[in-house]
Amino acid sequence: MSSEKLTTVEELQANLINAYHEEFPNDEPTICAFAPGRVNLIGEHSDYNSCFVFPMGISVGTMVIGKALDDQENPKCYFRTLAEDLKESKSFELDITEQITPLESPKWGNYVVGVLALFLERIKPNKKKSFRALISTSVPIGGGLSSSASIEVAMCTFLEILYRDEYAYDLQLSQVEKALLCCKAEQTYANVPCGVMDQYISCFAKADHAILVDCKNNTSKYVLFHDKSLCILVTNSNVKHELTSGKFAENVEHCQQAAKILGHKNLRDVSSIDELEQGRDKMSPVTYRRAHHVITEMQRTQAGAQALENKDYKEFGRLMYESHESLRKYFEVSCAELDQLVELARSVDGVFGSRMTGAGFGGCTVTLVKKSSVEKCIETIKNNYKGKATFYQFEPSDGARSIDLKKSNDK
Ligand code: GLA
Repeated sequence: MSSEKLTTVEELQANLINAYHEEFPNDEPTICAFAPGRVNLIGEHSDYNSCFVFPMGISVGTMVIGKALDDQENPKCYFRTLAEDLKESKSFELDITEQITPLESPKWGNYVVGVLALFLERIKPNKKKSFRALISTSVPIGGGLSSSASIEVAMCTFLEILYRDEYAYDLQLSQVEKALLCCKAEQTYANVPCGVMDQYISCFAKADHAILVDCKNNTSKYVLFHDKSLCILVTNSNVKHELTSGKFAENVEHCQQAAKILGHKNLRDVSSIDELEQGRDKMSPVTYRRAHHVITEMQRTQAGAQALENKDYKEFGRLMYESHESLRKYFEVSCAELDQLVELARSVDGVFGSRMTGAGFGGCTVTLVKKSSVEKCIETIKNNYKGKATFYQFEPSDGARSIDLKKSNDK
């Protein structure tokens, strides 16, 4: 196999149940929640500008299993990750009688603790529950496939099940509220000024569909994307640039500045590239370039969703290349490795389009390619890429869900 074998949801579940039994012999978990990662097809660095994104859910994601514990007097939560290669502690316990603040360490804990803290704001103090939770993810970490959002959304789904009874009447979260809660957790506990795309798609993803999300009002439209002759090839550059988080925040600020200079709340409300040109003299060249990407990407994303709906893959591919070029030249979040991966894919017959996906500075490219040409594309990249790439083939997959452990046990 030239592509990586992906861990299935069933394998993730079996691993977690084994780990649970090892740690807590003669005890059974009762809750199991899963939430997927995502690949963004087009619409990059658009969400925090209230523009459009067009992602799809993927078959890898995060699973949380565990159960409620009896200690109601002094509620505590126990977390453990099965992640390997961690330099920090793999488990910790949290007292939830007090206000929950971001953790110094382990850092991974902030993705679950942030969600828990915001979720508990909806629960009466005397209703807080003790629980234990074991967590495992099959999303490649740092690959730009949204491992963090899948952890947040899986955790939130776990909590929804845990509090199902108390919570069912007036506190139930809508899907949009859930995505926003998880996004806020990432912004405030993991300290990344991200938009809502990753958490939104992890909640709303649907098999055989991509989703056009309007991040201005958090509404979305499913677009059927099911064609057996096609493949979504994700290529991991295996480059992780450390400067990502600082640069990400800087770019968010440039976009906000540009909107302000043009007299708008955000770049979504800029009517055309002409309007940007008219304000060009009033902004720094960097601010201009960032805004240029966002405004043109907004048009590309809407056109891209339409092209995919029309099964016009050639046009969709053209827009993917344009998007990559804009991210490289104007948003400046690509890197030599990602550019090379796109160019190598482009040289293969049967490839419609290719671009970097996610925040950038490394991570993955996404390529739309005829199934009959996938192997050729992989081979071309393997033989010519200056780094060592890994490959994944994805189909649009379902969003966050509860998994019935009883049913799985009965099988
Ligand atoms: C990261 C963020 C998203 C989005 C993308 C870029 O994945 O978490 O909100 O901004 O980068 O499109």
